[in-house]
Amino acid sequence: MLDADQWQQVVGQAVRAPSIHNTQPWLFAATGDRLDVRLDPGRALPAIDPTRRQQVVSCGVAVHFAVVALAALGHAGEAELVPDPADPDHLATIRVTGAREPSAAERELAGAIARRHTDRLPFLDRPVPTGLVDELQAEIGRDGVWLKPVSREDEEAATVFLLGQVEQLEQRDPAYLAELHAWTRTDPTASDGVPVAALPEGDRSRRPSNWLVRDFVADPGAARPPAPAAADDEPPPSVEHPAVLLLGTMSDDRAGWLQAGQALGRLLLRVTVAGLAASPLTQALDQPWARNRLSHRLALVGHPQMLLRLGYPAGEAVASGRRPVAEVLRVD
Ligand SMILES: Cc1cc2nc3c(=O)[nH]c(=O)nc-3n(C[C@H](O)[C@H](O)[C@H](O)COP(=O)(O)O)c2cc1C
Repeated sequence: MLDADQWQQVVGQAVRAPSIHNTQPWLFAATGDRLDVRLDPGRALPAIDPTRRQQVVSCGVAVHFAVVALAALGHAGEAELVPDPADPDHLATIRVTGAREPSAAERELAGAIARRHTDRLPFLDRPVPTGLVDELQAEIGRDGVWLKPVSREDEEAATVFLLGQVEQLEQRDPAYLAELHAWTRTDPTASDGVPVAALPEGDRSRRPSNWLVRDFVADPGAARPPAPAAADDEPPPSVEHPAVLLLGTMSDDRAGWLQAGQALGRLLLRVTVAGLAASPLTQALDQPWARNRLSHRLALVGHPQMLLRLGYPAGEAVASGRRPVAEVLRVD
C-alpha cells in the first residue's frame, strides 16, 4: 500500500506527460494500492479536438509515466484501461501488484521523464540511426499498436502536403485560432498552456526543414518580430533530417487512444534515454477528413493516432509548466 507522499511522487511524474496544448486534461484519485485516472471535463478543446481523442492519448502517456514512476519506486504496477460506456471519463485504473527491485533500465527510463520536453526547434543535421527506429518499431508494435516510419519519398511528400493543407484551413478558422490563443502563454511561470519561449522564432518559410511544426502564433504580424532579410551570399542553413514516425492503432475508441498514449510514452522515454528529442506534428491528424486522407495515401491498416518528428536536439528545449499535483490528485 502506498502512502499519500508516495502517490504524490508518482502523480508528480505522471503529470510530466505531454498533452495537447499542455491542457493536462487529467485527474487522479488514489486509494490504497490503486490509482484511478479520469479525463478532466473542464479542459476540453472543442475546436481542435472535438472527440477528445488527442486528450485521451495525452492521458495514456500519463498512465504510462505513472507505471514507470511506480517501478522506479520499487512497486510493480499494472494499468487496466477501463473506458466504461456508463462512465466514459474514467479512463484507467493502475493497481500496485507487489514490490520489486527496479532494474537499472527502469531507473533510467524514470529519470528521462523530467528531461523529456517537446523540442520544436530544427534538429541537428545528423540522421537518426535506422537501428533505433527498428528497435522502436519492435518495442511499440504489439497489442494492436503499430509504428510506421514515414521515410519513402512519396509518403513524405503526401504527408508534408497534408500538413500544410490542414494548417492553412485551420489558420482560417476563428474557433481554432481562439483556442490556440487561449492556450499560448507569455508568462514563463504559467502552470499550463504552451509557453511562447518553447516555440520557434522567425520566418517559418526559412525553416531548414520540410516538416513544419504547428504554427501557434495566431496573429503572426502582431506577435512575431520581423525576420531579418537573408543576405544574398549567406550560405543556406544545414537541413535537419528528422525521422518521422506515425503511431497508430487497430481500434479507434477511447481504449485504442489510451493504448496509443501508453505507446507514445514508452517511445518518448526510450528516445530521451538515447539522447534524442521529439515533437508532435498532429496538425495532420486534427480533422477526421485529414486522418482518413493520410490513411488512404499511406495505405494504412488501422488508424493513425500520432505523427512525430524525432532527431538530435541542437540545444536545451524549454520546459513547460504543470498544474500543482494537489490540484489534480485526491488521496482517500
Ligand atoms: C496528443 C498530443 C498532440 C500534440 N500536438 C502537438 C502539435 O501538433 N504541435 C506541437 O508543437 N506540439 C504538440 N504537442 C505537444 C504539446 O504541445 C506539449 O506536450 C505540451 O505543450 C507540454 O510540453 P512538453 O511536452 O514540453 O512537456 C502534442 C502533444 C500531445 C500529447
